[in-house]
Amino acid sequence: MTTAPDVVLSESAPAATRDSVLRGLRGKPRTLSPTLFYDEVGSALFERITTLEEYYLTRAELEILRAHVHEIATLAGPRCALIEYGSGSGTKVRLLLDALQSPAAYTPIDVSTAQLARVAAEIAADYPAVAVRPVNADYSASFEVPDLPTRARRVAFFPGSTIGNFHPTEAAAFLRRVRRVVASDGALILGVDRRKDPRALLAAYDDSEGVTAAFNRNILARLNREMGASFDPAQFRHRAEWNDAESRIEMHLESTEPQTVRVSGESISFERGESIWTESSYKYDRERLDRLIEEGGFQLARLWTDSAERFWVAFLTG
Ligand code: AVI
Repeated sequence: MTTAPDVVLSESAPAATRDSVLRGLRGKPRTLSPTLFYDEVGSALFERITTLEEYYLTRAELEILRAHVHEIATLAGPRCALIEYGSGSGTKVRLLLDALQSPAAYTPIDVSTAQLARVAAEIAADYPAVAVRPVNADYSASFEVPDLPTRARRVAFFPGSTIGNFHPTEAAAFLRRVRRVVASDGALILGVDRRKDPRALLAAYDDSEGVTAAFNRNILARLNREMGASFDPAQFRHRAEWNDAESRIEMHLESTEPQTVRVSGESISFERGESIWTESSYKYDRERLDRLIEEGGFQLARLWTDSAERFWVAFLTG
């Protein structure tokens, strides 16, 4: 997720967080939540990923937003309240704020407190007519929507294909929650990565500079830093694989040796070749997208793609 939950894993962290890490590591297959990627180091690595030649997603989405932003603004209508799920570095939303007709409010939602405060302050300074109401929360769970101008149409913005990091069933449940937030007269601008030649997908998730590998391994370094774990990240190989039946890229960290690691007072043993599954990134074809929209309780108003047909931006109405 763009700037996913900043999970604090210190000794004083809620037992539930340590428990969920341990539960994931004890399980078969072994798993860690992708929300753990986004500490300060991981967020910086993710920003680098978005600039890589192989990681076409960000460029393709920006191409679509730039080409159709005026149509998006017309569809959104005047004086809307824009709600961004996972505002991250706050770059893409500026394209919308520049084009929307007198937007009344902007609510960035992000779990990363420092980044959220910075983005909210910058947007408030640059768009003084917009009421900026940030929400510091994990948007994938329920959160309280701040007071927004009462008659403003609510338009949610969820870019980056972060929807792809949810299992399709959870993705539909998430859209239903967004639908409740924006209400029946609201809308959602959704970025979705398309199913394509697995070679292009594998290159995007296993880039030649090794930035994605470093991003993946940082999750182990983070557990060392914050949970006193004893991972040697060099003994885990980054592996990206395409699961065609599930239409998803999976990222794994594969143990290169038989080894035992201490995590929060517990020993976890790995056989050579055994992996920790750290992320799924679902890719959508039209049929899957239509199902997602329907199960999510929205209707498709417009669907745009980029010149190489790699990515979609959808304008959905409630
Ligand atoms: C945030 N999310 C949409 C990214 C993706 O493409 O699934 C995270 C990522 N993982 C590896 N590279 C980028």
